[in-house]
Amino acid sequence: MAEDSRVLDARYYMPAFGRTMKIVRGAGSRVWDDQGKEYIDCVAGIAVCSTGHCHPLVVEAICGQAKDLIHCSNLYYVPNQAELAEKLVGITGLAKAFFSNSGAEANDGAMKLARVRTGRKNFVAFAHGFHGRTCGSLAVTHKPAIREPFEPLSAPCAFVDYGDLDALAEVVDNDTAGVFVEPIQGEAGVIIPPDGFLQGVREICDDTGALMIVDEVQTGMGRTGKWFAFQHSGVIPDIITIAKGLASGFPIGALVAREGLEFTKGEHGSTFAGGPLACATALATIGVVEEILPDVTRKGERFMKGLATHNPRGRGLMIGMSVGDRCPEVQQTCAENGVLVNCAADGNLRLIPPLVITDEEIDTAVGVINAALG
Ligand SMILES: Cc1ncc(COP(=O)(O)O)c(C=O)c1O
Repeated sequence: MAEDSRVLDARYYMPAFGRTMKIVRGAGSRVWDDQGKEYIDCVAGIAVCSTGHCHPLVVEAICGQAKDLIHCSNLYYVPNQAELAEKLVGITGLAKAFFSNSGAEANDGAMKLARVRTGRKNFVAFAHGFHGRTCGSLAVTHKPAIREPFEPLSAPCAFVDYGDLDALAEVVDNDTAGVFVEPIQGEAGVIIPPDGFLQGVREICDDTGALMIVDEVQTGMGRTGKWFAFQHSGVIPDIITIAKGLASGFPIGALVAREGLEFTKGEHGSTFAGGPLACATALATIGVVEEILPDVTRKGERFMKGLATHNPRGRGLMIGMSVGDRCPEVQQTCAENGVLVNCAADGNLRLIPPLVITDEEIDTAVGVINAALG
């Protein structure tokens, strides 16, 4: 049976992913593969399953809403949509939300909003930054190997080194609609910018009228110990984008913008975005994260302390380590010993476990990772 689906995949599914393992069940911070092997999951669907796998309150929200209404269209007021928008406004401190189905689409929406409200066309983003793979978001994603085959893309974008405010000041000008920035670069391998970086980006945006668009798709929803990573800086962005951890694995994304920045009727839309099921799941997720958020920083520190001999870096439960060429081998050894970890770009081992991970699970994972690193 297990082999059959691999055969079907090879025959019928486009080979855009390199994969070997099949995960069939999850509970809390644990998953099981199709051979019945158990793992502590320090990948969490790439920073998605923050409430753990199949959290009972999340499952209850999905099942409950599915019995009432799964879809109705944005032609009508959608159950749970305004309630979720209110919650997001509350936890971001911004003014209005708009939903999408993914992080890339949230960034596409932010690009549209920036263009339509500033009347400008160009963007600036950072080297090694990742904002998604749609034709919009790919234009502000740096990695040439995934961007260049699809050019020309929808927006002119200049890239500058992450953390280099002088370089940023050189390229942001009165034609720049927005600057896309991750508060910590996730796909690049958990790269933390120098202190004062987001404040510097804010100033350059203020000087030029470019919008500061903070991509919290990976860092958001409690991952770094605050609801959003920009909140460590004291800076208020013009727009933030959210997805991954927003609904425990149910697809949804959002952009949230400051007062005065909004789409008017007809400027943006989506059939599925902000549907009743996605919004119910996100509301339940926020309820769970509210409970566990106060402990995220402590858990992250415990994780990093355990890995201290390998110079980990991170914030909350977003941790990276430079491992070099042997990263895939370390990932494999950890999996063999019951811990899922993931190699981000450039030989950086990335740990982004569910926020509900227990101290005991952290200690077990630390033992396995340290042993694999040698
Ligand atoms: C910072 C960041 N932005 C955007 C995206 C794209 O999100 P999605 O895969 O949901 O389109 C990702 C995905 O890894 C991400 O890490």
